[in-house]
This record gives sequence, C-alpha cells and structure tokens, in this order.
Amino acid sequence: MKIAVVGTGYVGLVTGTCFAEVGIDVTCIDIDQKKIDNLRNGILPIYEPGLEEMVARNVKSGRLHFSTSLAESIKGADVAFIAVGTPPGEDGSADLKYVLAVARGIGENIDGYCVVVTKSTVPVGTAAKVRAEVENALTKRDADVEFDVASNPEFLKEGAAIDDFLKPDRIVVGISSERAEEVMRRLYKPFLLNGHPIIFMDIPSAEMTKYAANSMLATKISFMNDIANLCEIMGADVNKVRQGIGSDARIGTKFIYPGIGYGGSCFPKDVKALIKTAQENGYQMQVLQAVEGVNEAQKEVLFSKVKKHFGGDLKGKKFAIWGLSFKPKTDDMREAPSLVIIEKLLAEGATVSAYDPVAVKEAKHTLGDTITYAKDQFEALVDADALLVVTEWPEFRSPSFEVVGRLLKQKVIFDGRNIYDAAELREVGFAYHCIGVKT
Ligand code: UGA
Repeated sequence: MKIAVVGTGYVGLVTGTCFAEVGIDVTCIDIDQKKIDNLRNGILPIYEPGLEEMVARNVKSGRLHFSTSLAESIKGADVAFIAVGTPPGEDGSADLKYVLAVARGIGENIDGYCVVVTKSTVPVGTAAKVRAEVENALTKRDADVEFDVASNPEFLKEGAAIDDFLKPDRIVVGISSERAEEVMRRLYKPFLLNGHPIIFMDIPSAEMTKYAANSMLATKISFMNDIANLCEIMGADVNKVRQGIGSDARIGTKFIYPGIGYGGSCFPKDVKALIKTAQENGYQMQVLQAVEGVNEAQKEVLFSKVKKHFGGDLKGKKFAIWGLSFKPKTDDMREAPSLVIIEKLLAEGATVSAYDPVAVKEAKHTLGDTITYAKDQFEALVDADALLVVTEWPEFRSPSFEVVGRLLKQKVIFDGRNIYDAAELREVGFAYHCIGVKT
C-alpha cells in the first residue's frame, strides 16, 4: 500500500511514521520547506518520546519520505490523510481553510481511486465539504477519477502517541462505501492483531465521536476539580474520594485526578468548538459550558492559595516553579495552566524562577525574559519563598526534601498535582498546600 499524509504536525508525523513502521510506503507532505528539510535530516518540529528514532529508522529503510509537493506525492496513493491544523477562529469554531485547501489540492492531482481521510479534528459535516472540494477540482480538470471520503479521528495522547497509535484502544472510521471500508480495514490490519477493534460507522458519527470523547474526558476532569474544591471547604480529602469512587467499575480510576485545570491543544479547543457547533444549530451544551467555566477558574486555584498563604502580599517574593508544559513528557505550552499562574504572580510584583525538563524553549516564545529559567530543578529553588509544582514530571515526584528545604528561603510547597504525601512533608517542617484537601 502507498499512502500520503498531508501536514507534518503532531498528528500527521506520528500517523505517517507509525504506518511506515509496519511496512507501508508513506510520504509526509508539508508546504513548509524548512520543516521538510529538517525532517529529512532527522530534526523534528515536536518533542515526542521515541519518535525521533522511529523517523530515522523508517527514512533509512526507504519507507518514509518527506516532500513539499502534494502533486507528486499523491500520485498512486491508495489513501490520503488530511492532518493539517484547524486553528480556532475568534468565535471558537474550527477554521477549515487549510483542510479544504488540501482537499482541493488532492482533487487537482489524484490519478486513480483514493480514499481521502480527514484525520485532523474537524466539525461534523466537514467530510461532506471535503468531498465537495475534491469533486469540484476533478470537474474543473475534467478528470474521471473515483474517490471516497472517510473520517478517521485520532485519539493520541501527547507524550504517549506512539504507543497509542501502535496499540490503540479502538480505531474509529466513518465511511460511506464498502470499497472505502475495505481499503481502511487493510490499512489498519497490522494494528488489529491483538484484538483491538476497528469500528466502522457513518461519517457524521465518526466526526462526532472525536468531540464526544474529548468532551467526556474534559468533563471528568472539571467534575473532579469541582469535587476537590468542595472537599476543601467541607474538610474531606479528594485523594481518598477519588479512590473511593474510582473503584466503581462504572466510574473507573482513570482521568479523575484533580489538578490545576486541563490544558493543551485539544481539550480547550474541542470543548469550545462543540459548544459553538451546538449553538449554531440551536442547542445549548449546558454541561460543557460549565466544564469550561470550572476549568478557567481552576487554573487560578493554585495562585489563590499562594496569595492566601502570604496574606495577600506577593510583592518582591520569589517563586520556584517546577514544570511549564501543560502535562509531562511534552514540550507543548498551548493553554498550559503555568502561563496563567505565572502571569498572576508577576502581576502581583513577584518574580519567578522556573525549571522544565523539555519545555523551556517553547515557554520562551510566550514568556520571554519575564521569568528566569533555572538549569535544573534545584537551582530554581535557591532563595525562593515557595515551590509551586505545576506539571507532574516524573523527576519531581521524589526529590530530597532535605535539599528542597535547605535551598528554599521558606519551607512552603504548593502542589498543583497532588504528587506528595502531606503527612510526610509536614513532619519535616513544610507548609504543604495541595488540591482538594483542607490545610
Ligand atoms: C487528549 C486526549 O486524551 C487524546 O485521546 C486526544 O487524542 C487528544 O487530546 C487530541 O484530541 O488530540 P492530550 O491533550 O495529549 O490528549 O492530553 P491528556 O493526557 O488527555 O491531558 C489533557 C489535560 O488534562 C492535561 O492538562 C492534564 O494535566 C489534564 N488531566 C488529565 C487532569 O487534570 N486530570 C486527569 O485525571 C487527567
């Protein structure tokens, strides 16, 4: 099989590389010449564990190619994935101009039957627009070429994307013909060997599945954050409550960790987009509106705790921050709660010294020199009035608290991810604040 993947962002690059890994001939296409040159030289635009090695291996074996020419790469492709960005417009709805431009380009160049697949997260109804663009382009050049459209949403988690791709919980494909179903089944066959299901459905349902999945996950998080805040008021411990409810198989133990709000490029964007789609169609997503509201408020919770602890005056205080990315194992700073916390601290006249294992370069794009960047987690602590744990990178989980206490000016920890043991820290003289436990 031969496939083309248009867009070498996060989704496109992981998708293309993982298909090459199982022996498929893949060309990843991007209009950005520099990006393509870099990729040919093994330089990746994103950080994702294991991806660099996998790209190198598959380029070397001749199965993975990079190109700026859609026209050349699409010829002879059985499947063309559209994996370009859908940036949110001012009003929160996904902007489809890149997706539709690629669809046009495909229509202008395919020379035989091809399944045109939307992989980017796109609103319900997008595949129909893609079909119209391809058809239009084919008519313009008077070409009699058959094609199908399909919707194949991705469920990859940043930081675990390769594993998620190679061992998916499920693969969802929206199709409208048996021929497209057969091609997609053949394409995904290598990933189905361990009993992972491929679920075929109509195209609008596949498009909706993506939004429903992310919105459900975001709902779990906001719900737990709400419960956590109430636990604090009522004198309950959310860590215990989490275990208590998670052991009910209907609820489950995953994705019920309270914290400082969800971030990243997916949940905030997709929740907003679904609210907007509903509104446009005369329906109010009441639960999701609340999910969003709770999340915005939650990003400020850690800051409020800091302010309260220091009696409302943060002027001249210095804070150490561990973790900048929106979650561990990624350098992604999009919608990272750290940005809100830092902005608030700086606005109060405090200074910040931050450490993150991989996200500093990305963070500098937004934060510039408004804060200092420590070379390791301990340097960040020197003379700081408190430590704020913002992202739960594994290396922050078990530091020597003797050293932490010695470097900090005051033994105070604000733990936005509940990774420490309150009793243990208090025993060694720390003031310890976390999420959802009364202090
Ligand atoms: C999310 C979904 O998990 C993927 O299935 C989906 O494919 C992806 O979006 C996407 O649409 O592309 P991702 O954004 O990489 O993946 O990150 P998650 O691991 O889901 O975490 C999202 C946010 O939720 C993070 O800010 C994390 O800190 C927060 N979170 C997660 C919690 O606060 N509590 C939890 O229990 C779990």
